[in-house]
Amino acid sequence: MEKHLYIETFGCQMNERDSEIMAQLLGEHSYIQIMDPAQADVIVINTCSIRGKAAQKAYSLLGVYKKIKETNPDLIIAVAGCVAQQDGRTLLERMPYIDIVLGPQSVYDLPALVAEARATKKNKLATDLSADFIIPPFLPELASSTPHKRFVTIMQGCNNFCTYCVVPYTRGREISRKFEDVLDEVAHLTAKGVKEITLLGQNVNSYGNDLSGAQKHSFPELLRAVAEIKGVELLRFTTSNPKDLSEELMRCFAEIPTLCPHFHLPVQSGSNHVLKLMNRKYTIETYLEKVDKLRQYQPEIAITTDIIVGFPGERDQDFEDTMALLERVRYHSSFSFKYSDRPHAKSADFGDKVAEEVKSARLARFQARQDEIALERRQDDVGKTFTVMVEGKSKTAGNQWSSRTGTNHIVNFYSDNALAPGQMVKVVVEESCKHSLRGRLIAGNE
Ligand code: 5AD
Ligand code: SF4
Repeated sequence: MEKHLYIETFGCQMNERDSEIMAQLLGEHSYIQIMDPAQADVIVINTCSIRGKAAQKAYSLLGVYKKIKETNPDLIIAVAGCVAQQDGRTLLERMPYIDIVLGPQSVYDLPALVAEARATKKNKLATDLSADFIIPPFLPELASSTPHKRFVTIMQGCNNFCTYCVVPYTRGREISRKFEDVLDEVAHLTAKGVKEITLLGQNVNSYGNDLSGAQKHSFPELLRAVAEIKGVELLRFTTSNPKDLSEELMRCFAEIPTLCPHFHLPVQSGSNHVLKLMNRKYTIETYLEKVDKLRQYQPEIAITTDIIVGFPGERDQDFEDTMALLERVRYHSSFSFKYSDRPHAKSADFGDKVAEEVKSARLARFQARQDEIALERRQDDVGKTFTVMVEGKSKTAGNQWSSRTGTNHIVNFYSDNALAPGQMVKVVVEESCKHSLRGRLIAGNE
């Protein structure tokens, strides 16, 4: 009999991918995904705990699901992801209506956990983190609405222990997926018509460090091997720690034609004093050297970043250094956050905490200037011609199509032609808008 599954996902693309895996696994047990949690037999909430705000959102939704369970006592509520890993048993103690708490290494066990929870009517806790965990070979089903682009996980976990970060505690140590498994998954996807592949990991540059023998390959080797697979038209990856960015990887941008000219290179702060407190293991000088070199290899490359303002001990001058870095690199875009204390993270115990209103003022100033720079960057694109991938048709504006450049800019354009998501077309950019570009189609169906 058909059963109903509702999944709510927070956080990064790793979580998005894990949710797809959980949906597929339960799909094999007759669960179909629905959009209304009130109609569900199983609710999975895949949580994120990177910042305080993300974790709070998960907790408040759990309150909503509790109400649903009061009207449907057979409902199974499963909490997955990083809050689950971090709060584990405490979650079950504080909220006994939760049936299953499962960490990121246990997503593959969800169907068994659901069956056990139903049969025994007891809570299940699955939050073991093992350094010997092997990411199973797993071939995705292709029923999603954007089958032309997919994420492929190449590694899990992180060994870096930046002092603000919860990830090493929620995702464990770095574990690389087997080289062949990654290639098999990509070949499976492209055989089904997927054109754009994004390789995913918390720190993709250290891919392979934990592999040995015939399996030992570096990230640039993996990139080159993936690029060789028939049907890979666009290749992307995320995310990287600048300290591990090698020249060999930079060279890939000059030598792999399908590798999109976009590099997300989180800097976190423009001040060496703060970088040291964060345990980032690079200086602004070495970071800038890498940025310059990347641009030599690929002059068109769009560099984006993550910034934390108000890290404990961040003085006015440190923040000014971050503003100066912004002028020097001129990021195409960035994600910026106010620092928040996280469980286990060392910086939670640091003194010299920055006042909330100072954090807010710094964030506002940073974002205002970043928005201006992003706009200037987009204006530089006006008049240029790009080969872009069609992403889909606008729901609101008739024959308007949306596409994305290799540099990760959205370009909207009009066309009466029947275009298909995944199709590569040529557009000339005519105008720069607030968050996107407007273009004119000059050639389709290449
Ligand atoms: N406080 C604020 N921002 C954080 N990030 C990670 N941990 C914290 C924290 N404790 C940000 C970093 C990271 C991004 C994913 O989230 O900028 O790169
Ligand atoms: Fe959030 Fe980090 Fe966990 Fe992703 S890995 S869900 S960003 S805490």
